[in-house]
Amino acid sequence: MSVLPFDDRDGVIWYNGKLVHWRDAKVHLLSHSLHYGNAVFEGARVYNGKVFKLAEHSRRLVKSAKMLAYDLPYSVEELDAATKLVVAENKLDSGYVRPLAWRGAEVIGVSAKGTKVHVMIAAFPWGAYYEQKAIKLVTSKWKRPSPESSPAGSKAAGLYIICTLAKDEALAAGVQDALMHDYKGRLSEATGANLFLVLDGELHTPTTETILNGITRQTVMELARKRGIKVVEREIWPDELAKASEVFLTGSAVEVQPVGAIDGREYPVGPITQQMIADYHALVRS
Ligand SMILES: Cc1ncc(COP(=O)(O)O)c(C=O)c1O
Repeated sequence: MSVLPFDDRDGVIWYNGKLVHWRDAKVHLLSHSLHYGNAVFEGARVYNGKVFKLAEHSRRLVKSAKMLAYDLPYSVEELDAATKLVVAENKLDSGYVRPLAWRGAEVIGVSAKGTKVHVMIAAFPWGAYYEQKAIKLVTSKWKRPSPESSPAGSKAAGLYIICTLAKDEALAAGVQDALMHDYKGRLSEATGANLFLVLDGELHTPTTETILNGITRQTVMELARKRGIKVVEREIWPDELAKASEVFLTGSAVEVQPVGAIDGREYPVGPITQQMIADYHALVRS
C-alpha cells in the first residue's frame, strides 16, 4: 500500500499560531533542532473528531520542552485550542495528531542560547499501527539510557535515535517491533509503546525510570484497577518473560496491542489482554 508523502498533502498545519497550507509548512535547514536533536513532540489519536486525552498530551509537550531547558511560547490551553482547530479544519474524524516544538535557525552551535522556539501541530488520517492481531518482537541490542545520561521522561526527538535503529533492525529480521532493555538489563519498553506482562493474573509493568510514562499506560492501569486486576509497577528482568501468561503493549498509536511472540517464545491473546482492548476501545470512543 503506498502512503502519501508527508510533505505533499492537502490540508492545513497549525504553525506558530497560524494555519498554513500543508505544502508550505517548512523550516530552515539551519534550524538548531535539526542538528542537535532537541525537538520535542507528541502523538495522540482522534476518535469521532475528538482528541483522546488532549490536555494530557499538551501538558506533556510543555513538560518535555522544560526537561530540555526551554519554554513553549503557548500555554496548555492555547495548544489544546490549536489542536482542536487543526483537527476541525482538516475535517478529521479519526486519525492522528502530531505536535512538534523545536529550536529555530537564529543561532547554530551546541549552545541553544538565542534560538526561538517554534511549534507546529499536524493532524492526518491514520489507521492501525500494526497489521497483525498479535505482533512479534525481538530484543534489541540497544539499551534505554540511564536517567543520568538522558532526560528519559521527555518525548525528545534525540531519544528516538535508538528506537528507529531498533525498529528497523526488527523489521529487517522479519518481525514487527523491538523490545528494549535498559542500561541495567531490565525490561523497559518497545520503540513506541509501553510493556505489560500478565503474571498470575496480575498486570506487571516496568517503573518509569528509563521509559516514557505513556498516557495510555496510565489509562490502562486505571482501567485494570477498575476491573479489580492488581497492577504492579516494578523492576522486571528478562527471565520473567518465561513466566508471563500474556504480554501486551500500550500507546496512543498502538492502543492496546497483543504481543504474540518475543524472541520466538509464544504468548496467547489471553483474557486480560482482551478485556483491556475492549475497555480501552470503549473509553476512547465514549
Ligand atoms: C518510546 C515510547 N514509549 C511509550 C509510548 C506510549 O506513550 P503514550 O501512551 O503516551 O502514547 C510512546 C508513544 O508515544 C513512545 O514513543
